[in-house]
Formats: sequence, C-alpha cells, structure tokens
Amino acid sequence: MFKRIDAAADLIRFTFEGQTIEARPGESIAASLLAAGVPALRETPVSGAPRAPYCMMGVCFDCLVEIDGVPNQQACLTAAKAGLVVRRQRGARPFDTTETEAGQ
Ligand code: FES
Repeated sequence: MFKRIDAAADLIRFTFEGQTIEARPGESIAASLLAAGVPALRETPVSGAPRAPYCMMGVCFDCLVEIDGVPNQQACLTAAKAGLVVRRQRGARPFDTTETEAGQ
C-alpha cells in the first residue's frame, strides 16, 4: 500500500505488537507502521472497529497507540526511536483514579 521512495542507510528498530518495525530516525511511528504494511493501529471503544492513521497531522486521533505502556499517544506526532515498545490501543484507555485524586 505505502512504499518508501528512497532507501535509508541507517534504520532504527522498534516493536509493534511484538513485530520488529524498521524506521528512519525522525520518522513518525505512524509513517513507519504504514510503510511496514500495518493496516490498523487502534480499535474503537464501542464496536472494536479497526482504525488506521488518517490525517497524519494530529487532528483525527485515529492513530492512538500505547507507547512504552503509556496509552493515548498519537503515533503520527511521535517520532520513532530505537527500542520503543508500541502496542495497538484497544478501546478506551482504563480510567486512572489516581489522576483525579491527585488533582483535588
Ligand atoms: S493520524 Fe490523525 S491524529 Fe494521527
């Protein structure tokens, strides 16, 4: 579907759902995953429908992923870095009651 138009010399690697993904330094996680042929990055909270990056500029939120255990990260706005552990976001993130307790 998506294909890089030039070859990169120094690729970095991170994982998505346990699969090794190659990326160029500075490239967004979303671009790396699309180039690797990953069809969907998240599942909707209500129906579980798959969603893929759409706008690639931080507007649609269809690229939400979990990065190193932190949910709700926009893959299109996050640069790929070596060793990141990225996972598909399934539904809504769990509500953390410590966030509201700390804010009161
Ligand atoms: S692709 Fe739209 S916010 Fe990331």
